[in-house]
Amino acid sequence: LADLTGTTEIPAQVAPQTSPLPPITILYGSNTGTASDYAGTIAAKARTLSGDVVISSLDDFLPKLKTRLSSFPDDGKIHHLLMVVTATYNGTPPDNAGAFDKWITEQVAAKALPLKGTDFAVFGCGNKQWRTYQMFPAKVDTHLEKLGGRRFLAAGAGDANDDIDGDFNQFLRLLYSVVILNFGGQSLNAGDLEKESDLLDGFTLKSVPPSDPMWSAARETEGNFNATILVNRELQNSAKSGRSTRHLEITVDSPYLPGDHLEVFPSNDPEIVESVAQGLGLALDATFVPTEMDADKISSTRSIAASLPVNVPTTLRKVLLHRADLLGPPTRSIVTLFAKKIAAKDASAAEALKALAAPDAKKSFEEFQKKHRTLLDLMAAYPSVKEVSLAEFLCAVSAMTPRRYSIASSPLVHADRATLAVGVVQDVFPGSSKAYFGQCSGFFKRMGAVKECKVEAYVKSCKDSFRPPVDPKTPLIMICAGTGLSPFMGFLQDRKAKGFVNPNSETHLIFGCRNDDDFIYKQELEAFAAEGVISGLHVAFSRKDGHAKKYVQHVIIDEGVLLWKLLNDQGGLAYVCGAAGGMAKDVRRALERVATMIGGVPEESAGEWLESRYVEDVWG
Ligand code: 2AM
Repeated sequence: LADLTGTTEIPAQVAPQTSPLPPITILYGSNTGTASDYAGTIAAKARTLSGDVVISSLDDFLPKLKTRLSSFPDDGKIHHLLMVVTATYNGTPPDNAGAFDKWITEQVAAKALPLKGTDFAVFGCGNKQWRTYQMFPAKVDTHLEKLGGRRFLAAGAGDANDDIDGDFNQFLRLLYSVVILNFGGQSLNAGDLEKESDLLDGFTLKSVPPSDPMWSAARETEGNFNATILVNRELQNSAKSGRSTRHLEITVDSPYLPGDHLEVFPSNDPEIVESVAQGLGLALDATFVPTEMDADKISSTRSIAASLPVNVPTTLRKVLLHRADLLGPPTRSIVTLFAKKIAAKDASAAEALKALAAPDAKKSFEEFQKKHRTLLDLMAAYPSVKEVSLAEFLCAVSAMTPRRYSIASSPLVHADRATLAVGVVQDVFPGSSKAYFGQCSGFFKRMGAVKECKVEAYVKSCKDSFRPPVDPKTPLIMICAGTGLSPFMGFLQDRKAKGFVNPNSETHLIFGCRNDDDFIYKQELEAFAAEGVISGLHVAFSRKDGHAKKYVQHVIIDEGVLLWKLLNDQGGLAYVCGAAGGMAKDVRRALERVATMIGGVPEESAGEWLESRYVEDVWG
């Protein structure tokens, strides 16, 4: 087997096609669509190489996978290629990969070898800020081998905190180079994996005239709203802190439990929608119906076009308001479209732009994205791009991805609604004073004064990965900073409703904030403490006048003796919620130090000691 691991070189000479390629199965595990998008790209190329290509989610295809695998003869030869693209969610499998995860775990335990005769490769999508980065893809990779599969390419890893598209494009080239080397098939030409030339292939739309009954049908519904924001108020003393955290109460149409999340599709700012449409010469009230959609053929399967239901009439205004990602960094697809649009006037500028957005040009594209933060910035930099067709636009611009937040209430207190505490993300463009707001948090802030604002929101289960202890006697230690407090407000409401109070229940909250201006839910927390729902309220102020700077990890060291007793002697559990990068890592380290310093646990065993006592829900 060719081993190209660790290099992105494509072999100059590839073997001529000797035999048709074996069947190819491409499976994805995806919550937000990135992994399924990549799987689609892999499939598009696979179809040019093999007559038997299947693409599906890991769980949907599982029953058929078992049949497919058992259909290959066990003669020591390779009869099947399996390519898996999957994300991970706090270390757990994505929503459509849970059954697959269970199956591989059971099969490995049973020492079964269902993958004999299968060559496989795995690409994992993740965010390096998470401690659990690549945890599930790595499990899939090792398990497939244990199940008898042969790894034909080392697992690839994409980091959403960096240039994940670039990471994937490099993997894609390697993948097909190795496949072609080992199995034959047509050679790869430069540009073979790029699809900018057929930007519109796979998507067609028909415009709907006002005389058509579909025209009014398209206007009747406003969006896929299933929820209402009942309360939307400020939690910080923003005048002093200069920052904002919104308290939201949103109706839910399905039950939830403490630890679960709410997924929200925000709406875009109508002013931005107007600017985009005006700038690109698109009529906002153009009514159209997508008539054909083949996601594999569209240049970006993450595009709006790929997410629109076929034969459902809609208007551009609705799509831009509710389904378009107008605030994310410009993607390669949109930059490629801009290159195409300026080509007639300025061929060299167009070439430069195209080179920049080439699939595996990572660094230069990152730099470009830093200078052009959103579609509007790109439009400002290339004002000559004025006439974009509706289909081109829908194929190039990404669909909006929803945002997930930890639910901050208990269904025992509010069965009909979920509370959220959302920090408003805001930063300034280098070199100018232009402020950028987060897509969803900015939406919540904008809607502050709107009564009963409609929204699209879904309860997402944490699948028991972050549930409070059921036994009131299990000591509970909750560690968080800022809006990391959210799930714990839900835990506390739940414990109060169940009567879990001191002295029968040890419940400690270690919370970090700057000072009293951003001490969110101060009154509620003090009331919980007064009622005995919280037995120890420990607040770390990082910027309070007259106080030394303190973070939650410092409190952990200060309270080491108590924490050791609760965690080690009394079987307590430490729960952590907050930013994955800084805080969660430091908190882990501090808890391990408690074990070594107070408990005398040898340094090399501290991680293991903590593992069974530690639960986290972190974000990047
Ligand atoms: P800072 O802003 O003063 O640095 C909520 O945002 C709180 O988390 C703030 O008090 C913030 O302090 C603190 N914080 C920032 N980085 C942290 C880290 N790496 N570990 C723990 N707390 C942190």
